[in-house]
Amino acid sequence: MSKTVTKIGVLTSGGDSPGMNAAIRAAVRTALYYGLEVFGIYRGYNGMIEDEIVQMDSRSVANIIQRGGTILKTARSKEFYNEEGRKKAYANLVKRGIDGLVVIGGNGSFTGAYKLSQEFGLPCVALPGTIDKDLYGTDFTIGFDTAVNTAVQCIDKIRDTADAHDRLFIVEVMGRHAGYIALHSGIATGAENILIPEEETTIEEVIASLSEKEKRKKLVNLVVVAEGHSSGGANGVAEILKANLPNLDTRVTILGHIQRGGSPTCLDRLIASRMGYHAVESLLEGRHNVMVGILNNAMHYTPIEIAIREKQRLGDDWMKMVKILAS
Ligand code: F6P
Repeated sequence: MSKTVTKIGVLTSGGDSPGMNAAIRAAVRTALYYGLEVFGIYRGYNGMIEDEIVQMDSRSVANIIQRGGTILKTARSKEFYNEEGRKKAYANLVKRGIDGLVVIGGNGSFTGAYKLSQEFGLPCVALPGTIDKDLYGTDFTIGFDTAVNTAVQCIDKIRDTADAHDRLFIVEVMGRHAGYIALHSGIATGAENILIPEEETTIEEVIASLSEKEKRKKLVNLVVVAEGHSSGGANGVAEILKANLPNLDTRVTILGHIQRGGSPTCLDRLIASRMGYHAVESLLEGRHNVMVGILNNAMHYTPIEIAIREKQRLGDDWMKMVKILAS
């Protein structure tokens, strides 16, 4: 295998996601296996600018595969949007001879990697680390499975109390502009309605379906809303539903950042390990400026600029199935 890089930097950037530590561990240990030097860059691109860069060894990543969050910390860096900030950051890499980069994060983090590759010719590999699962070119993103399982556990508990009181609950889940957490957790908890940005169910449709259920004396209902839905999230939906269905006893729960924490599931640890390992292999094989994804259980490499530009599309029948199963 021809060595095209000798010293690599690893960073996590943007919102943390469970499994990032497993990806760091895999990248560090694979790099060490091939005789590379590895540096952890703290607090995402901010740490690159501020020179918070520390050499790592095998022990630096011991006992972290099961931990949520990221040992490297993370941030959304405003300064990195400016060329000046990026020059400063790159100079800190050059100072140490870092000639390859593994970036774990979402769309914004990929844009940073793309800029570094374009402006300075730095070989970069990106790993999809986000609970939102909103990235093109991969069936999985690191953290989604854990987040959606956390949401399912919470919604199951909410259903218990909803059932005890004959109540309607509107539950808001994260996902930024994407509805995957809402869709998956809503289906898995048998939600009566799921509101996602990709396929807008109108609030009138929700009112019609709930009032039909009310007539059938079905009073326990769950509506799962993606935070990015145009209704303005759970509070917006509740306001309209309360006005139109005053007989229903309605409550709101916003799950929030609980979805980002916790020990990663087996699936997240596994895909993070595979992606971290293949990130380093990619750098060594000269497959640069790609996002390492998994499609149909095989590794898949998407040029970073395409991963940034394209959107993951929802398959056709999801919402039809939701309606049938909740009838
Ligand atoms: O991208 C991950 C995510 O958790 C989104 O689902 C959410 O909209 C956003 O980050 C929240 O960001 P912050 O933690 O900066 O409030």
